[in-house]
Amino acid sequence: MRFHLFEFTDLAWAPEFLKFHIAEIIEQIDQGSPTLDVGIDKLEVELAKKGEKNVIELCAGSGRTLIRYLKNAFADGRLNKLKVTDYFPQVAEYRQLAQKYHFVDAVDAPVDARQVPDNLKGARVIVRGFHHFQPHDAKAILKSAYDKREVIAIFETPERSAKWILFISLIPSFILALVMTARIRPFRWHHFLFTYLIPIIPLMFCWDNVVSGLRAYTPAELKDMVSDMNDPNYSWDIGVLANKDPKNAIKNIYYLIGAPRAAS
Ligand SMILES: C[S@@+](CC[C@H](N)C(=O)[O-])C[C@H]1O[C@@H](n2cnc3c(N)ncnc32)[C@H](O)[C@@H]1O
Repeated sequence: MRFHLFEFTDLAWAPEFLKFHIAEIIEQIDQGSPTLDVGIDKLEVELAKKGEKNVIELCAGSGRTLIRYLKNAFADGRLNKLKVTDYFPQVAEYRQLAQKYHFVDAVDAPVDARQVPDNLKGARVIVRGFHHFQPHDAKAILKSAYDKREVIAIFETPERSAKWILFISLIPSFILALVMTARIRPFRWHHFLFTYLIPIIPLMFCWDNVVSGLRAYTPAELKDMVSDMNDPNYSWDIGVLANKDPKNAIKNIYYLIGAPRAAS
């Protein structure tokens, strides 16, 4: 059974700098892990098949996730522009990314994944963000892409299982927050204060990871969500990919890709 408890990163009143600290911890974990690789490989293949060169990253968090994985594709022209968006955009950070990478457009205004503005055109991609939405909102996100016949791609690592909650989230998240915070650069005073002196960040990170597991959608639930969106010219591909690193604690990457069928 799915439980939709709150996550700190979704709270409007939670201080920006604490949310950004959590995004930086995720960023540090990603740097040493191939977990998302298999999903991004699939995304690249699908975009090439559809001839789609523009990407709108929804729920982008730190904004660095897709840049890291797709920067070669943008550099060699296989992809064109990446618009980085979030409901709580890290504006200063996104602007810095746009200065550093010619292919990045920083979107300063909040973009609600449930109501993507018409002027944002391209493949909509959500990495580790879909479980943040209640079923009716999650369905609205898929329906909106379907109605506009845009590509939508969703990749999720949280899993609604006892294993995720007990062995990947509960204690490991707390320890990971301690270890990864030490690697974040530039080091800021609040990193030390709220991680090692008063461990608010490890507790928030741990809570959010446990709740992510409780909120995760199964492939059967995703299939059910799109069961009434049946245009023969639009396809849904939903499934599970195995982590390229079999020793990684996270074994599975759940995905959904909706896309207009390429003209034959
Ligand atoms: C767990 S983070 C995922 C961050 C990033 N995609 C990653 O993989 O590291 C979830 C993000 O969803 C954003 N979010 C929550 N509700 C949203 C909404 N309605 N529309 C767009 N973004 C939302 C949060 O601000 C947060 O940055």
